Amino acid sequence: MISEHFEQMFEAAKKARGRAHVPYSKFKVGTAILTAGNIIVSGCNVENAAYPQSQCAEASAIGNMVSQGHYEIKEILIIGSGNLLCSPCGACRQRIREFASLNTPIHMCSVVKHLKTTSLEELLPYSFGPENL
Ligand code: THU
Repeated sequence: MISEHFEQMFEAAKKARGRAHVPYSKFKVGTAILTAGNIIVSGCNVENAAYPQSQCAEASAIGNMVSQGHYEIKEILIIGSGNLLCSPCGACRQRIREFASLNTPIHMCSVVKHLKTTSLEELLPYSFGPENL
């Protein structure tokens, strides 16, 4: 399922990806979030010389979203590097879970094309979220 906002999200993620700070992995990632109010917020990965302190593009985008006063992810799009799927890591699946619903579309792309759209429920089954508390 390709959303009507796909092109705008793709361009925002690509722009953010271009700003990634990846001197160690050289693997650029850009993410765009469509909020409930149809605002697009983006982020890129930010690596650190102390490797574990690096931040994924999804985490950056979520931080930017919250900083701008938005708390609901309607759709999320990720552009990785290369031709394989850049699927959110386990930690980022949980980060997305905080602000998304189980059927929130997750679009995975290369820099040139859409590769796959899946749902949060498929990526993080039996998840623990805000309503569990
Ligand atoms: N990375 C992301 O930003 N998002 C993903 O979905 C997968 C991996 C980053 C982390 C690190 O900076 C680089 O890609 C290589 O793992």
